[in-house]
Amino acid sequence: MKKRVILAYSGGLDTSVIVRWLTDRGFEVITYTADVGQGEELSEIEEKAKRAGAVKAIIDDIKEEFARDYCMPLMRAGALYEGKYPLISSLSRPLIAKKLVEVAHKENAHYVAHGSTGKGNDQVRFEASVWALDPDIEVLAPVREWEFKSREEEIDYALKHNIPVKATKEKPYSYDRNLWGVAIEAGPLEDPWTEPPEDAFEITVSPEKAPDTPEYIEIEFKEGTPVKLNGKEYDQLWRLIWDLNEVAGKHGVGRVDMIENRLVGIKTREVYESPAGLILISAYDEIESIVLDRFTYHYKKDHVSHPYAELVYEGLWFS
Ligand code: ARG
Repeated sequence: MKKRVILAYSGGLDTSVIVRWLTDRGFEVITYTADVGQGEELSEIEEKAKRAGAVKAIIDDIKEEFARDYCMPLMRAGALYEGKYPLISSLSRPLIAKKLVEVAHKENAHYVAHGSTGKGNDQVRFEASVWALDPDIEVLAPVREWEFKSREEEIDYALKHNIPVKATKEKPYSYDRNLWGVAIEAGPLEDPWTEPPEDAFEITVSPEKAPDTPEYIEIEFKEGTPVKLNGKEYDQLWRLIWDLNEVAGKHGVGRVDMIENRLVGIKTREVYESPAGLILISAYDEIESIVLDRFTYHYKKDHVSHPYAELVYEGLWFS
């Protein structure tokens, strides 16, 4: 019987090449693509995956689960890594890992695979999460071991195997986006002296481009969860976060520019946009400043928020 693997699939060059690369090595590849609010059209994913050699392509809308079970605990914890980063990518990886494990069980697969590199945090988050949930599953990380030394070599391989490569000139940045925000890295940003070019940003405008008149947002919380924006009730939490991103982004709210300590021991320049995330974290904190007694409030600020952020950053969501 063929070895079966569930691959976390974005539809980009790396993960498309992985489909073929694993197939060449005797695996039967099932791709898994999650809609976590990255704002991308996923209708072509199935065709792309199959053209690359996948036997099956699963597309899953998990925005509401992501909002409810991942963004909300983070907001309530007031978690910002190194006091600044609202943990955008750190938040989606454990949920995607959980889904990979569920699909692996359903499809009788012994392997899962991801497209993260050996230099980042995401590989650790995927692997630690998968093994926390099922230590018997083997995790494959082709990008860490394959023969390609450059993007050009990958493109050659893709063309040779009829894998569609986007002809459009891509931005020089690496993006990871979900409902909680956008992570932007690489390219000109590698130099900390370089101010982030305006074209790097996806969901916020610069203060110069923001309207001169402010906009007021009233957020109503119920049992620690936002339920209304300016009196409008939402039955889907992800939509509330989506709309809040839009209003706040339009006013230039939510940019973060930092040097970050990765858990693998590398320092890196990172730029983020998290309009809704940063607003919700601060709104929740304002409520706590009113309703918590002094000792509880101090305890939370000093002993909960930072350790919680560190756990999430380091891939220990399921610990
Ligand atoms: N540095 C951030 C983190 O580790 C963002 C990672 C973004 N990932 C990406 N593939 N661009 O959480």
